[in-house]
Amino acid sequence: MSFRGLFIAVVLSTAMIVSAFVLQSKRPRMEVDRPTADLVKATGKCADCHRHETSAVVHEFEMSRHAKAGVACLDCHQPTKGQEPYDHKGFTITRKLTSNNCRACHEKQVDEYMRSRHAAPAWAAVAGTADFTPEQVAFSEAIHKGAVERPPHPLTAVEGMAAINKGCRQCHDVGKPNPDGSIGSCTACHARHVASVELARLPETCGQCHMGPDHSQLEIYHESKHGVLFNAQRPFMNLAARPEKLTTEDMPLPTCATCHMSGLEGEKFTHDVTQRLSYFLFAPVSERRPNYEAGRRNMKAICLKCHTNPKIQEFYGGAEGVVRSTNKLVKEADEIIAGLRKDKLLTPEPFDEPIEYLHFDLWHYGGRTAKHGAYMGGADFVQWHGYYEIVSKMAELKKSAEEIREKAGKAEGGPKPALAETEAPKSGELPADVFPPSAKPGGEADASNTPK
Ligand code: HEC
Ligand code: HEC
Ligand code: HEC
Ligand code: HEC
Ligand code: HEC
Ligand code: HEC
Ligand code: HEC
Ligand code: HEC
Repeated sequence: MSFRGLFIAVVLSTAMIVSAFVLQSKRPRMEVDRPTADLVKATGKCADCHRHETSAVVHEFEMSRHAKAGVACLDCHQPTKGQEPYDHKGFTITRKLTSNNCRACHEKQVDEYMRSRHAAPAWAAVAGTADFTPEQVAFSEAIHKGAVERPPHPLTAVEGMAAINKGCRQCHDVGKPNPDGSIGSCTACHARHVASVELARLPETCGQCHMGPDHSQLEIYHESKHGVLFNAQRPFMNLAARPEKLTTEDMPLPTCATCHMSGLEGEKFTHDVTQRLSYFLFAPVSERRPNYEAGRRNMKAICLKCHTNPKIQEFYGGAEGVVRSTNKLVKEADEIIAGLRKDKLLTPEPFDEPIEYLHFDLWHYGGRTAKHGAYMGGADFVQWHGYYEIVSKMAELKKSAEEIREKAGKAEGGPKPALAETEAPKSGELPADVFPPSAKPGGEADASNTPK
């Protein structure tokens, strides 16, 4: 070969090598990265191939405590009892994972969750009993009487399936029953692949569902001193601390999880979010829960890790006052509606007359929000989104009831009171439409029983 030929060959091959390097360096990072030897050992071929196919899944998994603890893809993805096997690249996996895929390793958490209103009651609220086995109904009814054995909320019929599937069910699927006989999938607060307590402790995680005008917990939290200070001090906190070891040094401020679930400084950590509650605050008229005393004790034990007893007593006293006074207002509105129904001035169907929406907004937005604001430190929600909504809606409701009576020619001699005290309906006569039996008024939230 001539010198010229040799020169061209050297230049060409150098150029090829350089461009190969340039090209290689320009390829997306996940295509050139190889999984670490440990990860390959733990996850085998799944991670290797899925790094190309669905890189985010593998990356999320790599960040998890599961990856560090040597849990493999197949530990979760293999079919358990009752799950349909699916042949996949030489492996047998299941395409639909449920809480049963976590149960083998986290039985305690699954059992606690099953006892909470996040399980069957959440789904029954929007879908009734139809999707549950009789055993599931019996199990949950024994704990939450009337919360599963009930028809779907009547709004579902008014709005139709398109709205229900993309609306109600997206939040209420936290308790959806699965074909394998289990309930839920555990991913609402932990996500699929990071499976982290840090994520579960963030207010926004709960706020995926706990927000909006009918249950403004996230907004209330962000307005509260707790929320404001949490946001300011978050960089100094250790949100990944193990639940059994969580101290006020890790988290000097509470998030939703701290008050409702965490095992702060030796308190029992629980997946039963019902355990620390004393009232059915979500109901139009809030009764005490069957575990009223224990619920208060459990929650106060958490407050007392950071506050003094007199402060907490005072706080609870004020909040119970709000429960009593909103109950009174909501009952007044209930009686106006019941009076119209009794006089056959309204159809028996719910949600087909404007005044029924007014009544619903009064307690469902105003009433509930005032109570939630009082218990979680949101003054604006007690006042402007709460009581103000109740009293202004009440004025509209009274006017509208009067007009209905006038129109029906029953208002001779000027507007009369909708219903005299003595005619007030008993709790059982309240329209079945507005609320599930579990939450019907009846047991009064009377002062006699309130600790001074
Ligand atoms: C040789 C490459 C390869 C291997 C090995 C592999 N996968 Fe996949 N996997 C894919 C591809 C490609 C898809 C997307 C298939 C599609 O779009 O239909 C997929 C899809 C999936 C899905 C979604 C299935 C669905 O239809 O809903 C899951 C779950 C899954 N893989 C898990 C795993 C697990 C767990 C392993 C290891 C036991 C594994 N994969 C091994 C390539 C692979
Ligand atoms: C802690 C249990 C767990 C582990 C470990 C796990 N997965 Fe998953 N994975 C899930 C769950 C839960 C889903 C959601 C399944 C469903 O929709 O029913 C899922 C879904 C997927 C999907 C479908 C994602 C989509 O959005 O289409 C793929 C692909 C997948 N996993 C791959 C993997 C691979 C690869 C690994 C190992 C690197 C792995 N998983 C490890 C629990 C796990
Ligand atoms: C996927 C949606 C979703 C997420 C995420 C979620 N919840 Fe819920 N939660 C619900 C639904 C729906 C209900 C109402 C259940 C019912 O019908 O009584 C509920 C009810 C509750 C209740 C009342 C239980 C009772 O007995 O009345 C508490 C307390 C609660 N959740 C706390 C939390 C906390 C704390 C978090 C975050 C760590 C959280 N939730 C995350 C959907 C969710
Ligand atoms: C953004 C998420 C979300 C959507 C959408 C949603 N809910 Fe809820 N729902 C919740 C949460 C969270 C609670 C718990 C409120 C509380 O305890 O303060 C709840 C409580 C309830 C309750 C009272 C608790 C019970 O078990 O009786 C009923 C009834 C209910 N929802 C029905 C519905 C219906 C019907 C729809 C659709 C028309 C719907 N929800 C849409 C999140 C949602
Ligand atoms: C094969 C057993 C196994 C399976 C299956 C499994 N896990 Fe885990 N999980 C573990 C181990 C081991 C740890 C780590 C405990 C430790 O570090 O001491 C863990 C830790 C966790 C943590 C705590 C993470 C943290 O940040 O501290 C969560 C949350 C979790 N798992 C959720 C799940 C969920 C949800 C599923 C089902 C989708 C699941 N796990 C399936 C074994 C498993
Ligand atoms: C400082 C502690 C604290 C924090 C933080 C907190 N809560 Fe609460 N929460 C309470 C108390 C106290 C009650 C009323 C308990 C009772 O019934 O005695 C309550 C009530 C509730 C209820 C009402 C249940 C019903 O009966 O309708 C829900 C749902 C709820 N909280 C969710 C949340 C969510 C979601 C967050 C975060 C965005 C949050 N909480 C933050 C203390 C807290
Ligand atoms: C409502 C949100 C929520 C749901 C739903 C949920 N978790 Fe959790 N989980 C949490 C929170 C919050 C923590 C951390 C508690 C704390 O702060 O001490 C946690 C912690 C854990 C841990 C860590 C325990 C440890 O000792 O390290 C495991 C494991 C776990 N959850 C498994 C599950 C399983 C399995 C399911 C399904 C049955 C599930 N979780 C459903 C919120 C949730
Ligand atoms: C992890 C610690 C922690 C927990 C648990 C906790 N708090 Fe707080 N709380 C704080 C801190 C810190 C502040 C801010 C005090 C300041 O202004 O310096 C605060 C502020 C408050 C305030 C407003 C300031 C004031 O003193 O008027 C109220 C009210 C309050 N907490 C009530 C409660 C109640 C009720 C509970 C239980 C349901 C509770 N807290 C649980 C740490 C906590």
